[in-house]
This record gives sequence, C-alpha cells and structure tokens, in this order.
Amino acid sequence: MDSLKQRRTIRKYQSKDIPADLLNDLLESACRASTVGNMQTYSVIVTRDAERKKRLAPAHFHQPMVESAPVVFTFCIDLRRFSQWCRQRKAEPGYGNFEWFVTGAIDTLLVAQTFCVAAEERGLGICYLGTTTYNPDQIVDVLELPELVFPLATVTVGWPDENPPQVDRLPLEAIVHEEVYHDYAPADIDRLYAYKESLPENHQFIAENGKETLAQVFTDVRYTKKDAEAMSKVLWETMKKQGF
Ligand SMILES: Cc1cc2nc3c(=O)[nH]c(=O)nc-3n(C[C@H](O)[C@H](O)[C@H](O)COP(=O)(O)O)c2cc1C
Repeated sequence: MDSLKQRRTIRKYQSKDIPADLLNDLLESACRASTVGNMQTYSVIVTRDAERKKRLAPAHFHQPMVESAPVVFTFCIDLRRFSQWCRQRKAEPGYGNFEWFVTGAIDTLLVAQTFCVAAEERGLGICYLGTTTYNPDQIVDVLELPELVFPLATVTVGWPDENPPQVDRLPLEAIVHEEVYHDYAPADIDRLYAYKESLPENHQFIAENGKETLAQVFTDVRYTKKDAEAMSKVLWETMKKQGF
C-alpha cells in the first residue's frame, strides 16, 4: 500500500530489455482483475519490434516513450473472441453496440491498471499514453485490429532511467463525498485548487503559455474544445468501423 503512495509516472527507460518470463507473470497477475461476467472482454497487443514501434509513433504524436521503451502494450476492448466462441457454440452474440463498448472499456482498463500496479511493484516504470483514443484509426491499422476490437489504452514499460519528483494531487476532501454528492461553492474551489495554483512549476506553465490562469492553460492550450470535438469524430467513426 505504501508503495502505491510513492508511485509516479516514468517516461525515461534504460535500454535494458524486460525478460519475457517477467512480462508473462505480470500479465497473468493482471488477468486476475475483476472482469464482467468473467468474459475477459479485452486483448493485449505487446509491441517489442523496433520497426512496429516506429510505425506506432505518429499515432502517439511521436512521444519519445513509444520508441525508447523496450515494450509497448496496447490494451484493447475485445468482443470478437467471445462472439466467435458464441457462434461456434450455437449461440447468437449481441455485443457490437455502445453498451458493450463501455463494458469492454471498463474491463480493459481494469486489466491495464492491474498490470501497471504489478509492474511497478516489480520495479518497472510505466507511462499511459492518452493518444490512443486521439488516433484510434491509425492504431487499428498498425496493429491490424479486426472488427469488435478497439484500442483503448497504451502503456509504455521499462526499467526506470529517471526518478522524477511526485506531482501534486487534490486533497482527499476534494474527491470524497459523504453519503451524497456535495456540490462545490466558489470558496471550496478556491481552497481545493489553492495548493496546485501555488506551485512554482504551474506559475512557470502559465507564463510560458502567455496565460492568466492555470485553468486557461488547460482549456486554451492543452485540451481545447476544438481538438476534443475533432477527436470525438474520429473516435465515433472508428467505433462504428470496428463494429460497435
Ligand atoms: C488515460 C491517461 C492518459 C495519459 N496520457 C499521457 C500521455 O499521452 N503522455 C504522457 O507523458 N503522460 C500521460 N499520462 C500520464 C499522466 O500525465 C500522469 O499520470 C499524471 O500527470 C500524474 O502523474 P503521476 O502518474 O506521476 O502521478 C496519462 C495518464 C492517463 C491515466
């Protein structure tokens, strides 16, 4: 439990490889995660080949971890394997829809995060790449994902070659609601975000981006409405193309 409190994302890796036995052991642990109906509606694509990583890189906006990590994991929603089993056993599956996309997404993230916790426990460093759902169409092509399989989360894994400081979190009182949801008064927001806003790195972030507040760096620079709407379109179209 204490090691969980010490964790941090690692983006720089040693060139040392990860033994296949260790990865298999971690994946076996990850597959003990809870899974809806014990159906395991996920698949994991393991990318070790340098050429394939190079082809994945543009989909991840060339974030250096894709090519520098010894192994890249793409955790995919997979309703295909289960549907195939049903058909081969005189059962008609009905899993190509939004409900099962969401359920598969929950299953997939549970296995991904369990894998990450297990990997960090063994001294490995991990980084999630959110770019997977920005450019799912490109990842479908590179990883040759068939119908009813959808890339949801990418995790780069390697032996740490950095020890960055931990980044802040909101205080627990910002997150936890006793019994029912308690909405935030303006003074609560001021109090709960005060520490984050006080950090020198965030002051620097505001200055570098020529903004007035930290929130504007998020809305106007990092995660804009325009980008999100364009990515939503690709996401939706790829979901349909993959049969959901
Ligand atoms: C869904 C998701 C997507 C993420 N995408 C990226 C990414 O594309 N690039 C990156 O460097 N870090 C990415 N991260 C890592 C976060 O930036 C990191 O977890 C966060 O800043 C908190 O830092 P910590 O994990 O060290 O506590 C992602 C994390 C999550 C959960």
